[in-house]
Amino acid sequence: MNNNWKERFGGAALITGASGGLGAEFARQLAAKGMNLVLVARSTDKLNALASELRQKHAIEAITIPLDLTRQDAADILRQQTQQKGIAVGLLVNNAGYGSHGTLDTLDAQNEIRMVDLNCRTPLAMTHAFLPDMLSRRRGGIIFLASVGAYQPTPYFANYSATKAYNLMLGEALWAELKPKGIDVIALSPGYTRTGFQEAGDVQSNPVGGWAAARDVVARCLAKLGKKPSTIYGFRNWFLAWSLRFTPRRLVVLLAKVISKPTV
Ligand SMILES: NC(=O)c1ccc[n+]([C@@H]2O[C@H](COP(=O)([O-])OP(=O)(O)OC[C@H]3O[C@@H](n4cnc5c(N)ncnc54)[C@H](OP(=O)(O)O)[C@@H]3O)[C@@H](O)[C@H]2O)c1
Repeated sequence: MNNNWKERFGGAALITGASGGLGAEFARQLAAKGMNLVLVARSTDKLNALASELRQKHAIEAITIPLDLTRQDAADILRQQTQQKGIAVGLLVNNAGYGSHGTLDTLDAQNEIRMVDLNCRTPLAMTHAFLPDMLSRRRGGIIFLASVGAYQPTPYFANYSATKAYNLMLGEALWAELKPKGIDVIALSPGYTRTGFQEAGDVQSNPVGGWAAARDVVARCLAKLGKKPSTIYGFRNWFLAWSLRFTPRRLVVLLAKVISKPTV
């Protein structure tokens, strides 16, 4: 496998949700591999601070595009802006996403629908926008952010875990479609990882799979890109996800209900 990431993917890495958490960590680790970056999220100041830190540290090019990715035309805007700047996107990191926690009837309907937009529609639209150029170069990569919550229905995270199942299925299927065409695809499933994500109201303090650092989760994903259709971070998370495959569905969902029950 080509260790020159710039050559391997034939262009810059575009990372959605790069202003914090796992997205910022993807930016740091890809910059350390010498990749130029396109950083996208809503928080202009955080994006600019990260871009200037990484330019100085790794002598790479990094541009920022502040954008609300729930906009229906977000993928078109990003394609246009990168084209205008002469940037080829070789690695697409579909990372931006959020969750909510609680029984569906108590959660805000518009927020849940926006979550489907950001977590599902956006990665699909972004893939449609940037895949054709990757195919014409016969190289590229796409990362989808799934979750351990993607492996079973999860009461109290019902909509969120469904959006992550979408990313897992989409990523794994595209791995098989695109591998012969020179495009590496992977769906990453982190367990609980310390980021800004928990501010969305997830109150688990001692999750079954334990806590992970964003640095380790991202390093694993980048190490497995091109080798596997998907990867679960952490042995306990992996064991949990796979043991549930052989358990009756009714029991799976009831177990998930106990594990994810709000504690306040
Ligand atoms: N942390 C975990 O435990 C965990 C576990 C499994 C899966 N994941 C997945 O990992 C991904 C990253 O999550 P994280 O933990 O890094 O969360 P985070 O720290 O909350 O970061 C989320 C990122 O998404 C961006 N974002 C949110 N809404 C956006 C919008 N409307 N338009 C553009 N950007 C938006 C945020 O930036 P702005 O606010 O600046 O827009 C931020 O950069 C998500 O897809 C999540 O589902 C996380």
